[in-house]
Amino acid sequence: MSIELKGVTKKFGDNAVVSNVTFSVKEGELMALLGPSGGGKTTVLRMIAGLEMPTAGDVFIRGKRVNDVSVQQRNIGFVFQNYALFKNMTVFKNIAFGLKIKKWKRAETEARIEELLKLFGLEGLERRYPHQLSGGQRQRVAIARALAPNPSVLLLDEPFGAVDAKIRQELREWLVTLHHDLNVTTIFVTHDQEEALEVANRIVIFSRGILEQVGTPREVYDQPANEFVARFIGAMNILEPEVRGEVARIGEMEFPAPGHADGEKLRIGFRPYAVQVSSDLTQYRYHAVLRHTFFLGVLLRVEMELPSGLMIRARMTKEDYAHQGLEDGKEVSLQIRQYRVLAREAAALPPESELRYQPPPVLGENI
Ligand SMILES: Nc1ncnc2c1ncn2[C@@H]1O[C@H](COP(=O)(O)OP(=O)(O)O)[C@@H](O)[C@H]1O
Ligand SMILES: [Mg+2]
Repeated sequence: MSIELKGVTKKFGDNAVVSNVTFSVKEGELMALLGPSGGGKTTVLRMIAGLEMPTAGDVFIRGKRVNDVSVQQRNIGFVFQNYALFKNMTVFKNIAFGLKIKKWKRAETEARIEELLKLFGLEGLERRYPHQLSGGQRQRVAIARALAPNPSVLLLDEPFGAVDAKIRQELREWLVTLHHDLNVTTIFVTHDQEEALEVANRIVIFSRGILEQVGTPREVYDQPANEFVARFIGAMNILEPEVRGEVARIGEMEFPAPGHADGEKLRIGFRPYAVQVSSDLTQYRYHAVLRHTFFLGVLLRVEMELPSGLMIRARMTKEDYAHQGLEDGKEVSLQIRQYRVLAREAAALPPESELRYQPPPVLGENI
C-alpha cells in the first residue's frame, strides 16, 4: 500500500469535517476523491500531505506511520485548489522551485526541467511568465512543478477546476496518459462525477466527511452502496410506487413486490441506460411520448412522458436515435431492463448491511 488512512477524523473545534475515514491507495494507482463541495476532500488531502493533523486515527505512507513526520519529509507533490503559479517567475523558475528548496545542483536541475518540459509538452515556453500561458498550459506547469522533485505521491486538489470545459477534457486525457507514463501514485480531488469515472482507477466517494464507498468506476456506478452514491454518480430515475397485492404500481408502471405489505411505498431506482426505447409501439410494454432530447456528445438523453404524466429518462446513442427516426413529440414504447429497490430514506442511511438492495431483476421475465 502506498497510502493508508485508518480511522481518520478531523475536527475543527466541535465540527467533525472528516469522520472515521479508512481507505488505502495502491502503489501506482490513480485514485479520485469525489464528493460534493464542503465534504472534506481538501481536508483529507491536507492530512495526507502533513499540512493538517488528524484529530484521531493514523496516516501511513508506504507502510510508515507519518502522523509526526513533517511536510518536507513526506516527499509529496501537491497541486493546491485554485493555486496560481508564482506570477513573477518564469515557467523554468516555477518548475525549479521545489528543486531549489531541496538544493539540487544547477546541472541536475536543468536536466530535470528539460525532461519535464518535454514530457509535459511545454518545450520552448520556459522563459514565459504565467500570464503568457493558456489555462491548460498553466495547469500543466503547476503539475510539472509538483512532480519535479520526484515525489512518491502526487496530490491534485481540483486540478482542472479553473479551466473551461474543452481544455478540461484535454487535460483529463493528458492526465491519464501522464499517469500511465510515470506511474506515480496519485490522488486527485474532484466534485465532477464524470471526471472521476473517466480518469480514475478507483474512486473514494465522500459526503459530509463520511466515506460512502470505495470502488472502481464500474463498481460505484453499477453497484452503488447506497442511494447517495446512486444519485451522485450519474443520473437515476427514481419512482415511488405503492404496493397492492404484491405488485408495486405507479401510474401505468408495475413492479413485482413479493413479501411487501399492501400500502407500503417502495423506492425504485434505475439508470437511464437501463431503459430501452423503440419507435416500434408493439416492441415494449409501456407507451410514452418523447418530450425532450438532450445532446450530450456521442450519447443522448431523452425524457419521455407516460399517459399518467410519469417522466422517464433514458440514454441512447446518436446512431440508435437516428436509426429509429426519433424526435421530440414522437410516440415510443419502452421497458426497464433492470432496476433496484432503494433504501427508503436518502437522508438517514441505515448501516450498509441493512440496505435493501436487491440484484436487479430483468423486468421482461418478471412482469
Ligand atoms: N481550517 C479550517 N477551520 C475550520 N473549518 C474548516 C477549515 N478547513 C475546512 N473547514 C471546513 O471543513 C469542511 C470541509 O472542507 P473541505 O475539506 O475544504 O471540503 P471540500 O474540499 O470537500 O470542499 C467545510 O465545511 C469547511 O468550511
Ligand atoms: Mg476542496
